[in-house]
Amino acid sequence: MSQPLVAIVMGSKSDWETMSNAAAALETLGIAFEVRVLSAHRTPHQLAEFASTARERGILAIIAGAGGAAHAAGVAAAHTTLPVLGVPMQTKSLGGMDSLLSTVQMPAGIPVGTLAIGNAGATNAGLLAAAIVSHARPEYLPALEEYRRRQTEKVLANPDPRDG
Ligand code: RP5
Repeated sequence: MSQPLVAIVMGSKSDWETMSNAAAALETLGIAFEVRVLSAHRTPHQLAEFASTARERGILAIIAGAGGAAHAAGVAAAHTTLPVLGVPMQTKSLGGMDSLLSTVQMPAGIPVGTLAIGNAGATNAGLLAAAIVSHARPEYLPALEEYRRRQTEKVLANPDPRDG
């Protein structure tokens, strides 16, 4: 396995079903990543340590997913100058609006690039992390371009929505 370039962290194992979409996007593009469950509330010191040492592990971007009072992305961002991409979990109680607002409303000075709620956000976090990686490591750019090409071809191959 090659050196992980992206770190995926999530507040709970229960976030994995959603966050596996970020992992799948990175796998499709052949980008190595590490995955950890670390919570801003339940394991605050370990999350801080994970984020603050990410750069020296060779990580180029961090994806952080959390739900409810979702502080994982913000806390990770507070402990690193690496780009941090936040994915708000869909929640049963408030539909993910709680996660979205907790993740997106960072005070000036500590940015979190916040994606959409749920699966689409997780997929896009993987793709956006790949775009960040491809700046430093342009050998990953062709895979990202191929992903877009295939997506376009798939739409154009079935232009009539009435076809099965
Ligand atoms: C957050 O609390 C996690 O990110 C998760 O989305 C939510 C609920 O966690 P569990 O109670 O399912 O572990 O910290």
